[in-house]
Formats: sequence, C-alpha cells, structure tokens
Amino acid sequence: MTEEDFITHAHPTTIEKDVVSSVAPSNIALIKYWGKYGNQLPENASVSFTLSNCHTKTTLSYQKKDSEGFDFSVFLDDAPAPSFEPKISTFFERIKEYIPFLEKYSFTIHTTNSFPHSSGIASSASGMSALALCLVRMEQQMNPQMDQALVTRKASFLARLGSGSASRSIEGPLVVWGKHPKIEGSSNLYGVPFPYKVHPTFENFQDTILLVDKGEKQVSSTLGHDLMHGHPFARQRFEKANANLTALISVLESGDLSEFIHIVESEALSLHAMMMTSRPYFILMKPNTLEIINRIWAFRKKTGTSVCFTLDAGANVHVLYPFSEKEKVLSFIKEELSAFCKDGAFIIDQAGSGAQLL
Ligand code: PMV
Repeated sequence: MTEEDFITHAHPTTIEKDVVSSVAPSNIALIKYWGKYGNQLPENASVSFTLSNCHTKTTLSYQKKDSEGFDFSVFLDDAPAPSFEPKISTFFERIKEYIPFLEKYSFTIHTTNSFPHSSGIASSASGMSALALCLVRMEQQMNPQMDQALVTRKASFLARLGSGSASRSIEGPLVVWGKHPKIEGSSNLYGVPFPYKVHPTFENFQDTILLVDKGEKQVSSTLGHDLMHGHPFARQRFEKANANLTALISVLESGDLSEFIHIVESEALSLHAMMMTSRPYFILMKPNTLEIINRIWAFRKKTGTSVCFTLDAGANVHVLYPFSEKEKVLSFIKEELSAFCKDGAFIIDQAGSGAQLL
C-alpha cells in the first residue's frame, strides 16, 4: 500500500458527537529502530514484542464544531495534561491529510497508563497507537464501508506518524516495521505481524522490566534519531540491524535461544553505542544498568538458563526469558536484581496481543 491509499475521499455519514475508547500495548524491540528520514520513515527495519500488562487506555470524545483549526484538550488520569499538547498538535498536523475531518471536531482525550507515568517507560508507543486507533474507528463510524483490515493498517500508519515505534503496537505479538527484503509484506509505512513460523519457545515470552531510573529521559528520542544524520557509523548500523533481522527470522523459527540472546543483546548495546558515539554524545545507562547486565551474564553462565536483556532509550533493563524459566528467573530478580532498581521496583510482563477497541 502507498500513502495515497490512506487518504479518504468521502464520508457518507456525519456524526454530531460520540465517544470511542481503545487500549493499546507498549512494545519492546528486539531489533531496534534508531534513525529516520522523511516523514517518519525508518532507516532500518525493526521487530518487537507487544507487551501484555503495560498499556494505555484512551477515550476520545468528539463533537462537531464550526470554527477553524484544531481544538482538543487532553487529560492524564483525569487531570489536565497540557504538557502532552505540543506532541498531539504535531501528530494532528502530520495526520490531517489522512483524517480530513480532524479540524471539524472538538476533541477531549482522556488517557491513562497501566504503568506509572514516572516509571521511565515510554508511553508514546502505547499512547499514540491508542489514539490512532480511536481516530480510525471514528472514521469507520462515518464510513461504515471501511473494512477491518484497512482500519488496522491505517491505525498503524497513523500511529507511526505520532511515534515511529507506535506503528508496532496495533497488532501483536511480534510486529515488523520497515521494509525488509526477506520479510514479505513489510513496509516503511506501517507495522505488520511477523509473517513466518515462530517456535513455541517464544510463546508467552517473558519481559520483566527493571525500573532503574524513573526520571524523565535526558535526551528525547526525537533528538536521538536526529543525531543519526551525519553519524560516523550510521550506514553500518542500518545495514547491521537489517542483517540481524535476517538472522532472527531463522532463530525465531528454530527456537535457537543462544543465537537469539546474541542478536538481542547485541542490538541493545549497539543502540546505546550509537548514542555514545554521536555528536553530542550521551549515555543513558546508569551504573545500576551495568551492574544488572553483569549479573544477568553471571546468572546465565551459572544456571544455564536463557535469560537475556534488552534496553530502550533509557536506563531501565528489560529482562527477557522463556515462560518455562519464569519461576527461576523471577526468584533471581527478586533476590538479587531488585536491589539495583529504584525503590526495588520492577514490572512483570510478557508478550501480548495488539490494540483493541473497548
Ligand atoms: O518511537 P520513538 O521515536 O520513540 O523511537 C523509539 C526507539 C527505541 O525505543 C529506542 C527503539 C525501538 O525500536 O523501539
């Protein structure tokens, strides 16, 4: 599909006012997206697991208006959240070509996250995908001909324009975003479910998120992506990410956990290596991030388990492991790793499904 396919030309029905609600998961990338061009297009393909417990619920109330321009107000946990407004304005600006009635309605957006706002877990993927799904549902209400496959695809397409990784939060559990020569149907415009066989080892794959630093990000991902322009290792990074995704296809099929660990940990460290070698350079890991990584390595060696880690653009550590190792790894986390978390906090999660209308 091309960008033009997401432009709607006619809306047979007009609705005076209504309410739509959705819930959308956060996701954790195995192959990382870091670097973009043009209109939120990724420099390399990425793949992630959607999560089960970390999600955003959004209720969008809309009412017809006569005035020009955008009109919306946004609430987080029922309290006004003016700090979200600039991001939503930018989002509306980017999607108005595809949601032509956006300026014809006043919107009230109520949003709530299942994880604490101050957890350092990015809410942009779940937040943008939940909002995108509400908007496409609104479009479907006015255009009942719109089929479900298009609703899903367009929600991912719009979510991408809000936050790249949000395109991977509409479907689940494994979603690819970015054109990749070995992945049929993959696109730079939207996420698609990983289309090949996945070994049962990766069913209910566990992700326990260790909250090392609950603070605001020191460097926004927008700035981080920008720093990949002119980065001395950018080309090699994009090629390596795509090669890692090629390798991951057979690993996901065979269930080869030792190769999985190698790819996933290397991706996490490469992402942070890009940050450390950009200009300006920066470090998002904290001393406790490194302490945890070293302890995961020692535990893996000692026990022969297949626990590994990945990182987002922050200090928190995502501990990944097969469901069959849950008991062993959770004891290790509680007894040893939680001491390196802020207030001992961690979130037990696992791969889940995609976004849903409520
Ligand atoms: O979606 P953004 O622009 O916030 O970028 C997120 C990038 C990473 O989370 C660091 C990696 C990824 O692929 O999710």
